[in-house]
Amino acid sequence: MPFYTNRGLSLRYLDEGSGPTLLMLHPFPLNAAAFSPQLGQLARKYRMLIPDLSGFGSSELESDITEMDVLAEDALALLDKLHLERSAILGVSMGGYVCMALLRKAPDRCSALVLCDTQPFADDPEAKTKREENAQKTLAEGMPFLARTMIGKLLSANALIKLPQEVTQIILQNPKEGAAAALRGMARRPDSRDVLAKYAGPSMVLVGDQDAITPLDKAQALSASLSSSRLVQIPKAGHLANFENPTVFNAELDHFLTGRTANAG
Ligand code: MLT
Repeated sequence: MPFYTNRGLSLRYLDEGSGPTLLMLHPFPLNAAAFSPQLGQLARKYRMLIPDLSGFGSSELESDITEMDVLAEDALALLDKLHLERSAILGVSMGGYVCMALLRKAPDRCSALVLCDTQPFADDPEAKTKREENAQKTLAEGMPFLARTMIGKLLSANALIKLPQEVTQIILQNPKEGAAAALRGMARRPDSRDVLAKYAGPSMVLVGDQDAITPLDKAQALSASLSSSRLVQIPKAGHLANFENPTVFNAELDHFLTGRTANAG
C-alpha cells in the first residue's frame, strides 16, 4: 500500500486500476475502505486514487483540528506526486466538503466532479456546538461512541440489517484523535455555493433515497448551485449510497465518467 508525504505527515492511499484517474474522498468517520465496493468493477476502467484522509486509517494527523482545506491540500499534493495535472474527483459526504475546498483552491485541477450524499452549506451554531460535544465524547469514549451513535443515521433500514458490522469495523479502524479533529474541521467549513457556482466543468450529484444526514433537499441545493449538474437518487440506500447500493452507484458513475475523462491524465 503506497504512502506519500505532505505537511511532514505520512499519508496512505490506494492506487488501483488503470485508465483515466478518479480521485475518491471518503466520508466521516470511515476511511479508504469506504470505497471497497467500487474497486473490483470500476478498477477495470479507471485508475482509482483513494487516500485515507489525514487522521483516518493509516494516515497521520497533525493537530486537534483538521480543516477541510488542509485535506484538500493533501489531495492536491497526491495529484502532484503522481504528476497528474487534472483528475475526475468524487467525494462522499465529508469527502464532498473536501472536494468543495479543493475547488476553492484549484478548480482547474478537477476535470469532472461527483458529489454524493453531501451538501454545500456551513454548519449553523447548533450543529457546531454538537460537533464539539461529539469531538469531546469521541476523545473520552473512543470510536465505539461514534460507531454506536452514527450507524443508524449512516445506513438505510435495509442496510442496517445487512451491513452494520462491516461499516462498524471500518469506523473502529480509525484513531479517535483523527475523528475528533475532523469533527472540529467540519464545523469550520464555509458555505460553498459560491465555489460551486463558479465551477464550469461537468458534474453529477448523487444521493441515497433514504439518506437521513444529507437528504434530497440538500442534494437539490448542491445541484442548483452547479451550472449543469445531473441529480440522481440511488434507490434503497442511505447516507453511504456507494456502499449500500454499489450496483446502481457504479453504473451511474461509469455512465457519467464515460466520455468525460478522456483527457484527465
Ligand atoms: C459524513 O458522512 O462524512 C458526515 O456525516 C458529514 C457530516 O457530518 O456533515
